[in-house]
Amino acid sequence: MLGLIERMDAELSKAFEAAGYDPALGHAVVSNRPDLCEYQCNGAMAGAKKYKKAPFVIAEEVKEKLASGSMFDSVEVVRPGFLNLKVDGSFLAAYLEEMASDERLGAEKTASPRTIIMDYGGPNVAKPLHVGHLRSAIIGESLKRLGRFAGHTVTGDVHLGDWGLQMGLIITELRHRKPELVYFDDSYEGEYPEEAPFTISELEEIYPAASARSKEDPAFREEALRATSLLQQGKPGYMAIWRHINRLSLADLKKNYEKLDVSFDLWKAESDAQPYIPEMVQRMKDEGYAYEDQGALVVDVKNADDTREIPPCILLKSDGSSLYTTTDLATIVEREKLYDPDEILYIVDKRQDLHFEQVFRCARKTGLVPDETRLTFLGFGTMNGKDGKPFKTREGGVMRLEELIREIDEEMFRKIVENKSVKDKDAEDTAAIVGLSAIKYGDLSNQATKDYIFDIDRFTSFEGNTGPYILYTIVRIRSILSKAREEGLNPGEGKLLPPVNDVEKALMLSLTSFGTVALQAFEELAPHRLCAYIYDVANALNSFYHETRILGLEDKEQQSSLLKLLDLTQKVLEKSIWLLGFSSPERM
Ligand code: ARG
Repeated sequence: MLGLIERMDAELSKAFEAAGYDPALGHAVVSNRPDLCEYQCNGAMAGAKKYKKAPFVIAEEVKEKLASGSMFDSVEVVRPGFLNLKVDGSFLAAYLEEMASDERLGAEKTASPRTIIMDYGGPNVAKPLHVGHLRSAIIGESLKRLGRFAGHTVTGDVHLGDWGLQMGLIITELRHRKPELVYFDDSYEGEYPEEAPFTISELEEIYPAASARSKEDPAFREEALRATSLLQQGKPGYMAIWRHINRLSLADLKKNYEKLDVSFDLWKAESDAQPYIPEMVQRMKDEGYAYEDQGALVVDVKNADDTREIPPCILLKSDGSSLYTTTDLATIVEREKLYDPDEILYIVDKRQDLHFEQVFRCARKTGLVPDETRLTFLGFGTMNGKDGKPFKTREGGVMRLEELIREIDEEMFRKIVENKSVKDKDAEDTAAIVGLSAIKYGDLSNQATKDYIFDIDRFTSFEGNTGPYILYTIVRIRSILSKAREEGLNPGEGKLLPPVNDVEKALMLSLTSFGTVALQAFEELAPHRLCAYIYDVANALNSFYHETRILGLEDKEQQSSLLKLLDLTQKVLEKSIWLLGFSSPERM
């Protein structure tokens, strides 16, 4: 359905035209002086030069033409030539009525749907998920939902890191610890065991041990590099270990992402790109893009007008093994072949900005993607602790995701029990739901590209711009609506009446922008816009609630209108938090 502003624009354009001016000047924007008006039109100012007339005069003429319309309650001309607009209450009520009966709550779908591969999550097998992977998962999940809601075809791919040095390190460490294992017997020709020679917790200990050792022991590092290269060439014993590692890690990762309510359509990995590497490399050589430099195979990607140094893209190392860049390029080849996307969107730490710049340039230069295919990098900022440095454990180590979630949930549990709003046995489940909102909203309410401070106290607060505050507002509405039902009323069934006061009108107006904001949040890759929006709606709802009697109201028509307004507010908030990636509890 057409948005409120679009409807105003149509009316304003007609008036400009009727007064003899360009209809394109008729455009409304939300007022930046809400104390004076709700919307304003600056078209007369824009037209003044062209028509060589004072903007005030133009505005007056347009106002004349608007006067008989039913959309505006008041139209005022103020100097030097603004049209200050207030929306008519009946028109507003009718608009919301339409919105309430629309499954999409008034949100249009995009006029140009795209097929988008979204690359987010990006965990590495054999390494525990840490907070660095949290943002990618949270932002990616929200953008996936927003993109689909907007009408795009979005496929989420976790793109596991499983083809790099960490695999060689684990294999080498294992070889040192248990050289007798059949995987290391080069003459072995039988089947490899089904069961892994380690558990997931052993694996989590093996990797850091190997990584530490490689830093002190150059020979060990050399061995690990060689093992990585042999794995990439498909050495059977190493492939068998790699399969064990992947299987164990994957089960663990899936469990973690489930807790975060983050899901993927594809669980593909860097290693899936391996089959595409030889042909891609050969072609780049044949077509003269790739050349040898100090033993490595590279492609130049710098431009004459670069303001910073863009080093060549390394395709293959001197030992023939591939790198992060290689698998990312070959993954583009794979995605082109399998999914033919209009866009590939990467949601990765902004510190990988140079890597993606190189990969995108190389992909374009060598024609891996058609010109019209978009390659987009959404680089997000760092999640910092209160000290302004990357978030760490109290002991100063890397914080594991599980640990972070546990801390938040415990804090939420404490607050909920303090509130005594939920019976003990439900309190834990409620704490997990509210805790997730604290983490996700705390993250998403910041512009993705910026660093932010992860502040458990602030994020878990029931007051202020937080997830729990939004949920608290939803639960509050739910409780009024359920009381109304207990009294035999039917919220949502009545007819919306024009607002009777300013707080009610403010709430009604806030609801009208849902569709525009939700779509804009995707086009700008900016879930924070949707957060800011629902914070406004929640504030409007709470001011309205404080000043309005609802359940005890005598006037039944008025009461059912108010209940319907609450019901619609609830729907808008619920839909919005779903798009952000969290949900609300029954009570809290
Ligand atoms: N595994 C990588 C990391 O932990 C992130 C992967 C991001 N996606 C990609 N296509 N490179 O840094």
